[in-house]
Amino acid sequence: MPKVNFLLNEEAVEINVEKGETLLFTLRERLKIKSVKEGCGIGECGACTVLVNDLPVYSCLTPTIKVHGKDVKTVEFLGTQENLHPLQENFIKMGAVQCGYCTPGMLLASYALLIRNTNPTEREIREAISGNLCRCTGYLPIIEAIKNSIPYFLNIQFKGNPEEEHLITLTKDEILEKLYEGKVEIIAGGTDILVSKRKKDEKIEDFVDLTLVKELKGIDMIENEIRIGSVTTHVEIQNNLLIKNSATSLSVACGLIGSPQIRNTATIGGNIINASPAADTVPPLLIHDAICVLESKRESRQIPLIELITGPYKTIKKPDEVLSEIRMLPLHGYREGYIKVGKRKALAISRLSIAFAIKENSGIYEDVRISIGSCTPVPFRAYMAEDILKGNKRNERIIQKAIEAIIGEIIKKSGGRTSYFYKLPVIRDLLKEILEGKRCQ
Ligand code: FES
Ligand code: FES
Repeated sequence: MPKVNFLLNEEAVEINVEKGETLLFTLRERLKIKSVKEGCGIGECGACTVLVNDLPVYSCLTPTIKVHGKDVKTVEFLGTQENLHPLQENFIKMGAVQCGYCTPGMLLASYALLIRNTNPTEREIREAISGNLCRCTGYLPIIEAIKNSIPYFLNIQFKGNPEEEHLITLTKDEILEKLYEGKVEIIAGGTDILVSKRKKDEKIEDFVDLTLVKELKGIDMIENEIRIGSVTTHVEIQNNLLIKNSATSLSVACGLIGSPQIRNTATIGGNIINASPAADTVPPLLIHDAICVLESKRESRQIPLIELITGPYKTIKKPDEVLSEIRMLPLHGYREGYIKVGKRKALAISRLSIAFAIKENSGIYEDVRISIGSCTPVPFRAYMAEDILKGNKRNERIIQKAIEAIIGEIIKKSGGRTSYFYKLPVIRDLLKEILEGKRCQ
């Protein structure tokens, strides 16, 4: 059993764990921290939220091995029954606790917000707790309790996320060697693989953690291309200035994935290789002509994203290959955005999505880039509609022609589906608004 060392509520812990064991299990069953609750077990309720390096994550989706060398906090860090933290006092005062099942996770998500942002808007507060479901209190008292706690945090100096340089790190070559030898799985954020294993009642036996490879992280500009390391997290992409300014749709999409806890953990590479028809990063990457770099000990190949995904949950990546980076074209001077339609705002899988980037000059469509997700087995780039629009004056007739081309392509790629009864009218309306210039992001 591997040995893991980490800080738990500022005290050093050294413990042996099973390889694929979740942090939720380690905390509750081995360390007897029962404040960390198990709800859904698949990253949907937030009851198991803990802080890792002061960022909220779902402990049910975190292999304990991944917190080696890190700082883990549970609600015990905040206060004791005799000496409550102001956040806890305010939750009680405002009647924000009923059964209390969600409360430890809610408190930690609130704490993570307020140590970074002492002047949050109500929208930011709602966003911060959007990955934590409360089944009995209702959210208004919780929001009030968080607002009332702000004065306390004004005097707290947040030192930033701890340096991770000291952690055990692997090189890309070491990972490629292990994959070449076979018998290991690769894991990045782990948010998809742990859920699918759990659903199949399987355990992860042996894996290599790509997030330990420094070369696979980060965002930069190399020779007029944006380069994103495959284990860059969604929150890092969402907040990156280069992405915000020259790939707006990707920044927006990353901000709409799952919940804050998922975005703090899940990676862009995982989202691509999982190859879900509803993958939120894929439509924005398609409009930026993304190229995926697949590396193995044998070779390195650059594959356009449009060719990488061959069907639902299928890619041409070979077992010994790693998606190391994504390269994409920056777009400037475009009206660019991403629209996602789901059952609810947070923690929702997109039912349909559209990424768009449109450049107009004096009412003429100079360039149009549109891709559609969640409607076909694989998200697709609407080249036919783009060609109809490009070089033409914006008017009702040309817009309708382009929309019908997209609808035709969806039907052709998927055949008839019962969901089209509601999806197609929504797509028509959204595309009309986008092409008429009524949608900016
Ligand atoms: Fe529900 Fe972890 S137990 S998110
Ligand atoms: Fe009961 Fe939130 S207080 S689930």
